[in-house]
Amino acid sequence: MNTADNVVEMRSISKGFNGVTVLKDVSFDVRKGEVHALAGGNGAGKSTLMKILQGVYQADAGEILIGGKPAAINSIQDAKAAGIGMVFQEFSLVPSLTVAQNIFLAAEPLGRGGLIDDRAAVKRAREVFSEMEVDVDPRAEVSRLGTAYWQLTEIAKALAQNAQVLIMDEPTASLARHESEALFELIDRLKQRGISIIYISHRMDEVYRLADRITILRDGRHLLTAPLTDVTPEQIVEGIVGKKIEGQLSYRARDHAEHHGRRCWKSAASTRGNGCATFPLRSGPAKSSAWQG
Ligand SMILES: Nc1ncnc2c1ncn2[C@@H]1O[C@H](COP(=O)(O)OP(=O)(O)OP(=O)(O)O)[C@@H](O)[C@H]1O
Ligand SMILES: [Mg+2]
Repeated sequence: MNTADNVVEMRSISKGFNGVTVLKDVSFDVRKGEVHALAGGNGAGKSTLMKILQGVYQADAGEILIGGKPAAINSIQDAKAAGIGMVFQEFSLVPSLTVAQNIFLAAEPLGRGGLIDDRAAVKRAREVFSEMEVDVDPRAEVSRLGTAYWQLTEIAKALAQNAQVLIMDEPTASLARHESEALFELIDRLKQRGISIIYISHRMDEVYRLADRITILRDGRHLLTAPLTDVTPEQIVEGIVGKKIEGQLSYRARDHAEHHGRRCWKSAASTRGNGCATFPLRSGPAKSSAWQG
């Protein structure tokens, strides 16, 4: 794999806050048209790594390459110009504005006399939604729309700014099941268009449904990067919680009619509130060579 095939390459990134190291020598890369899952327990450093890519924080050490070339990402504007888009977990839209106004906020098409051209914004927004193959009325006021539409508006906003890489942090957290499925289908279409997606999630069913590769961070360090075909869900959970599952973590099948494939563990090492991971219905063969330690 030539490094130029990587749309994003973060090399040996380190970052500390007030003398406390939260990322140590972390490398992470994303290929064109890839969904790359980013996993790790609470405080593992996922959001910090992504904030460095978005220009919110600057790394203390390491470098970022975009399309194989070193890039100085010192601000959110730099990140946007480099094609990095973020779908915010806490949506960053202005509720009292329309969908189109939000998409072009701070980048409005200017009409005659420098005034914001609402009609041009609506037209362009329609084009973006049509490319996404989703049905959203650009003239609707955002406050009147449900969460799923806010998210689609965020994605449209990033695409309208020519994002080549979309960062999604737990994007299904506030979606209903059918909305999540619609999002997955949209992600499939974006992939086909060559858009890359960094998908932060601890939900194993989503990771296996969507991702080509997974990177796991543990305590601010890179633990592994592997294709999903090379790791089992058990290995991933073990990587996230930092403990061997068998013996040390006690599993119990939970309401298996409703939560088919879902398992919970009871352990002090469990990293998420509910201590559950959702497993895929298939699991790939285990290959110890996938573990980079
Ligand atoms: N601005 C900051 N100032 C000081 N410490 C910070 C700051 N941002 C993050 N941290 C610390 O850095 C570590 C990594 O946090 P980060 O939010 O990146 O983890 P995460 O993997 O995203 O966790 P989560 O799954 O809870 O979202 C944590 O210990 C956190 O407290
Ligand atoms: Mg986080």
